[in-house]
Amino acid sequence: MFAHKIAAFTGPEDVEWTEVAEPAESAEPTELPAKPAESAESAESAESAESAAGGGVVIDVAAAGVSFADLLQTRGAYQMRVALPYTPGMDAAGVVRSCAPGAGFRPGQRVAVLVPYGCWQEVISVPGERVLPLPDAMSFEAGAAAPLNYLTGLFALVRRARAQAGETLLVHGAAGGVGTAAVQLGKALGLRTIAVAGDEAKREFALRCGADHAVLSNGRPGDGRPGDGRPGDGWLAAVRDLVGERAVDIVLDPVGSDRMTDSLRSLAPEGRLLVLGFAGGEIPVVKVNRLLLGNTGVLGVASREFFERHPALVAELWGQLLELRQTGALADPPVEAYPFADARGALRAITDRRALGKVVLSRTVRAGSGRGGE
Ligand SMILES: NC(=O)c1ccc[n+]([C@@H]2O[C@H](COP(=O)([O-])OP(=O)(O)OC[C@H]3O[C@@H](n4cnc5c(N)ncnc54)[C@H](OP(=O)(O)O)[C@@H]3O)[C@@H](O)[C@H]2O)c1
Repeated sequence: MFAHKIAAFTGPEDVEWTEVAEPAESAEPTELPAKPAESAESAESAESAESAAGGGVVIDVAAAGVSFADLLQTRGAYQMRVALPYTPGMDAAGVVRSCAPGAGFRPGQRVAVLVPYGCWQEVISVPGERVLPLPDAMSFEAGAAAPLNYLTGLFALVRRARAQAGETLLVHGAAGGVGTAAVQLGKALGLRTIAVAGDEAKREFALRCGADHAVLSNGRPGDGRPGDGRPGDGWLAAVRDLVGERAVDIVLDPVGSDRMTDSLRSLAPEGRLLVLGFAGGEIPVVKVNRLLLGNTGVLGVASREFFERHPALVAELWGQLLELRQTGALADPPVEAYPFADARGALRAITDRRALGKVVLSRTVRAGSGRGGE
């Protein structure tokens, strides 16, 4: 079989598509040491030992998710460090080839998986607790797009922020993978959702994903006016126009950088700011007097670390997700699909900030056919 391998932390262009041995049918779960990296995003993590994508259920992969964290891994800039060479990829979907007795799955069953790494290969072997049933009506691409971002989104909104229907949610990076998941989940949970996006195409995309409102990160919708960095300018002014001063109950922020202070300024009393990541490259600093004066809070969200400590939560949240989908409240994730062998092209879309929704590698998308639809 073929697999993508990070052979050196030199960036996406050096990810190799190479022939490797298939996992054994009866592979046991493998523990590999993971060291925290010294990087911007390392502040997201506590020290943790990660289990590799090995053991229990052997799956023929049909599609695999590509996320910002994978891009960071190719640069050696992610909080989780795995011994080189290794295969990245945190989520995938496919068909069970074989499984250990008592694993709870059967050969031929459609499934999705969520693991710390290892999904960008044609066959994977995964601990049963990280294998999730995939409904017949859900495509493999949607199945590969959902686990990381939607389970993180549910964990963030329901468990960390304790979101209540009727509250107002603001989502930064709203056209990205985590962002579209948060927008769709916000709608499904009955939140009034405001999307913040970097350009007009992304703003419109966030509205199509179900945001009630969408503003540009550097100005009001449609006016093309760049923000000049003054407090109250840019997206915050646009949000105030829409909902008023201090009217946002929850901010979900996977971007960081310069978003923090204005995000705190947007919060209603008892509002919560969820810190998910730093796609913008900088880790912001919080002046805690702002929290005191506003009766607000900043909450860290690190789903991978939490799921490691509470593995049963993965299947529990997946059940909640499928229930929301079943009732029609939650649409399937929008995806941008690339041929399975084209990890470099997929990573380039994330590097260039072009991606709309979750990027996936698909074995049914052919080279030269361009990226897939939503
Ligand atoms: N804490 C957790 O549990 C958890 C789980 C999953 C992911 N994450 C983190 O969430 C972040 C987003 O991941 P993702 O997979 O959703 O990424 P993504 O699909 O690439 O989306 C990131 C978004 O960030 C915005 N952005 C702003 N400045 C950027 C810059 N300089 N470079 C790139 N993007 C920039 C972009 O939106 P605009 O162009 O519209 O501004 C982009 O759409 C990452 O930091 C990832 O590690 C955290």
